[in-house]
Amino acid sequence: MNQDLMTEIVNVIELDLAAVAAYRLAADVCVDGDIKKQLIAFGADHERHVSELSEWARAAGGEPPTELGDVGNIILGYTRLSSQEERTAVLAMRGNEELTNGTYASALRGAAPEDLKPILERGFEDERRHIAWIREAISLRGWNQEPEERRDVLRAA
Ligand SMILES: [Fe+2]
Repeated sequence: MNQDLMTEIVNVIELDLAAVAAYRLAADVCVDGDIKKQLIAFGADHERHVSELSEWARAAGGEPPTELGDVGNIILGYTRLSSQEERTAVLAMRGNEELTNGTYASALRGAAPEDLKPILERGFEDERRHIAWIREAISLRGWNQEPEERRDVLRAA
């Protein structure tokens, strides 16, 4: 087994574990039923990624992580600090999704073995769907704009 590949997959699993925890946290502060429902569903997709990739890693002789490591804890800490309310929670999830999208894209650029490739491809499809939905939710609600009080502060500066 190629050790670099196993390290890369372990990193993907760690990011997926962090995403599961981050989505749980973000969904908790959401009051809009539609947003909450989507964030819970996206978290469940990340849970499925963890179990499929972990199964592959174990079969290939690796030891998949079951708890958050340093990177996962940083992501979760950032999400906790950022997710004061619905808007900031969704903006924080956009940041997290940019990270997971980039990670899946880069894992797929490598020469993944035949039994791993479909798992990564399905995961990447989920990631693209997640970030597209989050970007649309932000744009529909005008959440891309700076909040008014922040604009005032920036103008005064
Ligand atoms: Fe995602």
